[in-house]
Amino acid sequence: MSARPELITIEGVTKRYLTSSGPVDALHDVSLSVEEGAFCTLIGPSGCGKSTLLGMLGGLVTPDRGRLLVDGRPVTGPDPRRVATVFQEAGLFPWRTTLQNVEFGLELQGVPAERRRQTAAELLGPLGLSGFAEKYPRELSGGMKQRVAIGRALALDAKILLMDEPFGALDEQTRLLMGEWLLDIWRRTRKTVIFVTHSLHEALFLSTRVAVMTARPGRIKTALDLTMEYPRAMESSEMVALRAKLWSEIREESLRAMR
Ligand SMILES: Nc1ncnc2c1ncn2[C@@H]1O[C@H](COP(=O)(O)OP(=O)(O)O)[C@@H](O)[C@H]1O
Ligand SMILES: [Mg+2]
Repeated sequence: MSARPELITIEGVTKRYLTSSGPVDALHDVSLSVEEGAFCTLIGPSGCGKSTLLGMLGGLVTPDRGRLLVDGRPVTGPDPRRVATVFQEAGLFPWRTTLQNVEFGLELQGVPAERRRQTAAELLGPLGLSGFAEKYPRELSGGMKQRVAIGRALALDAKILLMDEPFGALDEQTRLLMGEWLLDIWRRTRKTVIFVTHSLHEALFLSTRVAVMTARPGRIKTALDLTMEYPRAMESSEMVALRAKLWSEIREESLRAMR
């Protein structure tokens, strides 16, 4: 496993926001490395800087200290060819069909119409949206909209997919199915995923690595490597024990964040 090359390196990253009510220390000395092909999950209390860290990887937020390398090169700004992001809100264009939404990033990159149409159309099958190419977002369920947003990110074919609570707004059953679906997509596309969730189940079901963050200012408290085979037997004694361990780490930080 460790023979795999390191795709993402985060070293000593610190971030303070200056707000009208004073400074907010969002991240303190965060270091993390992620191998190519990994599914790395960040989990931690609200406000501990998870989105800030993803924002930095996506080139939208600048660190005060430390550095971030993607594929050996520093992140200097958004680069959708290297890093694509999916958020909790699908953020689809309501006037565009499914196909046109999936095509969007390619359009921005100036890919010719026919080629981008073809790329998007090929993605619809794996997205489970084959019959929905010509539908508008208002005609789609929450899970479908989120799959369109993921398709839009996948169309760019960046090696790295950042996912910030992508299933956070979905009901539990849809969410479980979306987890199964994402696992399949990740294994097929071999992307490197950085995933943010509050769900212990999602973290354990999906990840090769789970990084637990402390209450603000966020640091990496523990990083667990998960080597169990997929699909994971969530009721196995090993998983149940891991879940208890993970919860005790997170519970402590969530309590601190509430004080
Ligand atoms: N643009 C910003 N300006 C000021 N404060 C911010 C900004 N973005 C985030 N914060 C603050 O930084 C902290 C970390 O935020 P965030 O990275 O969104 O955490 P998380 O995603 O873990 O909930 C929070 O206290 C949040 O209010
Ligand atoms: Mg967030």
